[in-house]
Amino acid sequence: MSPLPIRTLILSSVALLALLIPEAAGFPSRNQATPALKNTTTPVTVGKAVYLITNDGINSVVALPVSPDGTVSAGTLTKTGGAGSVALNTNGQPETPDALLSQSALTIAGNFIFAVNAACNTLSMLLISPSDPTSLTLVGQAASIPGDFPNTVAASLRHNLVCVGTTGARSGISCTNFSSSSGLGKMDRLRPFGLNQTTPPVGPFNTVSQTFFSEDESTLFTTVKGDPAANKTGFLSAFSVQGASQSGRGGGNSIGASLARTDTRNSPQGTAVLFGSQVIPGTKANIFATDASFGAAILSVVDSDHRGGGGSDTKAAKVLARVEVPGQKATCWATISPATGTAFVTDVGVNRLIEMSLEDASILGELDLSANGDPGLIDLRAGGSFVYALSPGNGTTEAAVTVVDVSGGKGSAKMVQHFELKGLAGRNAMGMAVLV
Ligand SMILES: *[C@@H]1O[C@H](CO)[C@@H](O)[C@H](O)[C@H]1NC(C)=O
Ligand SMILES: *[C@@H]1O[C@H](CO)[C@@H](O)[C@H](O)[C@H]1NC(C)=O
Ligand SMILES: *[C@@H]1O[C@H](CO)[C@@H](O)[C@H](O)[C@H]1NC(C)=O
Ligand SMILES: *[C@@H]1O[C@H](CO)[C@@H](O)[C@H](O)[C@H]1NC(C)=O
Ligand SMILES: *[C@@H]1O[C@H](CO)[C@@H](O)[C@H](O)[C@H]1NC(C)=O
Repeated sequence: MSPLPIRTLILSSVALLALLIPEAAGFPSRNQATPALKNTTTPVTVGKAVYLITNDGINSVVALPVSPDGTVSAGTLTKTGGAGSVALNTNGQPETPDALLSQSALTIAGNFIFAVNAACNTLSMLLISPSDPTSLTLVGQAASIPGDFPNTVAASLRHNLVCVGTTGARSGISCTNFSSSSGLGKMDRLRPFGLNQTTPPVGPFNTVSQTFFSEDESTLFTTVKGDPAANKTGFLSAFSVQGASQSGRGGGNSIGASLARTDTRNSPQGTAVLFGSQVIPGTKANIFATDASFGAAILSVVDSDHRGGGGSDTKAAKVLARVEVPGQKATCWATISPATGTAFVTDVGVNRLIEMSLEDASILGELDLSANGDPGLIDLRAGGSFVYALSPGNGTTEAAVTVVDVSGGKGSAKMVQHFELKGLAGRNAMGMAVLV
């Protein structure tokens, strides 16, 4: 999302929201930052490697090894066999530095990486070497997706199921199974979202943001941004996984699972431009969700009592908390750290990490990163006691990964490295995944 139009559009959508939704106007101010309680008995844990995609004409997965101190170093580039693409803004210009308008352009399940190729509508699967996490090899052929402009992917190891969100002319969700020997199966028929988009899409509004599984992997959630200026409501989609065998977690992967054909869509009150999200660990379906128009919310998705004529289950999403992030331009990406039990969010137009509570989304801390020179941050992931956040280059700045140490627990975040991706990735870079 390029800063200028976003600011204008977001401001206008916030103004619109304030008119439509009274509580959008004056939201409780941030809490005082809680002082760091250093728990010296908590061991510092580090991931093995971090991954992102270049999303360039020749799309590649960048793999950076993680050192025992949590920092990263130059690693490898592995071609996906496909091509990346770039969305447009309303002025017809490239929508960098958020080329795919999404979180999770690549994802990890087990020792596999799944990565989208937005220009050629394919999904690639790569195997991570057990002896060297930066050594990747393609498994089988890239799978052809029956949609346009794939920009987000989620994988369930438990159900052997990988699902892709597309946000071009044919927008929606398509899934397939996968195996270590033959790679990806044939993608199933598109479950359309009907966004009436173009290819490439014109964003940031009215596009798919992120697709992700619930913790028990029984539900696939997808956030879709609304377009407040056009009175178009965004939504949270929920598809059930069906036909899974009852073998359970310890009993190996279920065979023959598929995603339901129809979803339940909710537009939780007070949300408008839902973006990067994660199910809160230990909950069935409480979701920590960013919303580019104001900040972040905690949503709770529950099964509704009444069952429709077709017997399909429906779900209702309610807003448990909704917190405006002061000074935000577009809060769009989120991760939950196991080391802190809190969420961290980034903003493409403000170079900082905001730490928020998983109970009420209150702001617990702000790590100002402006000194490192990046314009802002996009996709990020927590891994062990660290958080890794991507800033694609903007022509002046190099693409970079900022490494933040959160080993001291809540409120302890401090930057330990600003690693420039010179020669590895540039302004189209997207996604972030950590192998732990
Ligand atoms: C510190 O960490 C240990 C081990 O994880 C845990 O048992 C203990 O409750 C923690 N103490 C505090 C004050 O968080
Ligand atoms: C996917 O599932 C189908 C039907 O069960 C099976 O024939 C196919 O081999 C599977 N493909 C992979 C890659 O696992
Ligand atoms: C779909 O978009 C086109 C412009 O791209 C517009 O003319 C048309 O009215 C839209 N249709 C709907 C149903 O929104
Ligand atoms: C959106 O809805 C409002 C209130 O119903 C209306 O005044 C406005 O004209 C609509 N805007 C568009 C672009 O349709
Ligand atoms: C890139 O971002 C930096 C830091 O915000 C800014 O100073 C610079 O003008 C930006 N360059 C372009 C081409 O937008």
